[in-house]
Amino acid sequence: MSKDKVQIFDTTLRDGEQVPGCKLDTEQKLVIAERLDQLGVDIIEAGFPISSPGDFSSVTQIAQVVKNATVCGLTRAVKKDIEVAAEALKPAKTPRIHTGIGTSDSHIKHKFNSNRDAIIERAVQAVSYAKTFVEDVEFYAEDAGRTENEFLARVCEAVVKAGATVLNIPDTTGYCLPEEYGAKMKYLKENVKGIHKATLSCHCHNDLGLATANSISGVINGARQIECTINGIGERAGNTSLEEVVMILRQHPYLGLDTNINSRLLYDTSQMVSQKMGMMVQPNKAIVGANAFAHSSGIHQDGVIKNRETYEIIDPEDVGVTESSIVLTARSGRAALAYRAKKVGYELTKTQLDGVYEEFLKFADRKKEVLDEDIHEIIEASNLNTES
Ligand code: KIV
Ligand code: ZN
Repeated sequence: MSKDKVQIFDTTLRDGEQVPGCKLDTEQKLVIAERLDQLGVDIIEAGFPISSPGDFSSVTQIAQVVKNATVCGLTRAVKKDIEVAAEALKPAKTPRIHTGIGTSDSHIKHKFNSNRDAIIERAVQAVSYAKTFVEDVEFYAEDAGRTENEFLARVCEAVVKAGATVLNIPDTTGYCLPEEYGAKMKYLKENVKGIHKATLSCHCHNDLGLATANSISGVINGARQIECTINGIGERAGNTSLEEVVMILRQHPYLGLDTNINSRLLYDTSQMVSQKMGMMVQPNKAIVGANAFAHSSGIHQDGVIKNRETYEIIDPEDVGVTESSIVLTARSGRAALAYRAKKVGYELTKTQLDGVYEEFLKFADRKKEVLDEDIHEIIEASNLNTES
């Protein structure tokens, strides 16, 4: 079955970099951008050029080195922002300007002290102006998650008419439920005149832990771009995690959707971003966390040793992890101990294993995790003739 492509728009270097205390310098951004390009992301949001001279320079340098991906710069619906972004993006082979404005009643009233008609006018002006510099213009309706669907459709229709190629529907505050976010996409698909001329894009924040679920619901309902970051980093609770959405689509082929990502580079890329940002990946993080392929309870270990698929839905090699790990703890059984002992050079008979296991349990009760070097000590303490 041929699959529809979902474009991966990586915003690690823009929304992701908004994590407090995780600022990257240009050198670090360039290394990450080159890696994202190799990973196969379709669009790299390189920064917000008007925000600082450093960001402007990073966007320009990224635009120079990126070979395959579209390079994108963020702007507000402000002329000067758009001019500066266009200038920063000049070296890019395929540049995109990402402009937009808040569309929820809360943003219109409190941020802009404005009204709905005036917001549509500003949105149209921004897109039309951006179009004078580049062909590819993405429009974001900030806080679309809390924007009434009927008004959102009016905004979208107006900016598509003005030439927007992509419509970003951000759940800026991470408020929506998956059903609600999916229904919003469906509503836009069915009610915006000219929607066939633009790609709908999911941009979800993780305030309620729903960013990934919402993005998947968005593409099931017609969106064809997901905005995400490596390790799900970003403001507050973060953005949609790139590695999660990519592997969800891959593990559920019946959805008929896939991406251009080379998943074997996911683990390494996650480590690279974590190190450069000085932000550790939580051990239980899906796909790339240290425990994502680690098994520690006896029942699970026994199953995985017999057949990996009993407790693993992803082959670790598919995401660049060499192999699953069998972690030895006081919850481990004989199968796990025999497996790890064999790895460090001991082929134990059943009787030998019984003796070593008793010693192992005493040791494991004192220590959280039993390591390879401990296995030698345990076997010595068991007083076995391992040659027999
Ligand atoms: O979350 C958001 O609304 C954004 C926009 C600026 C695209 O990051
Ligand atoms: Zn965002």
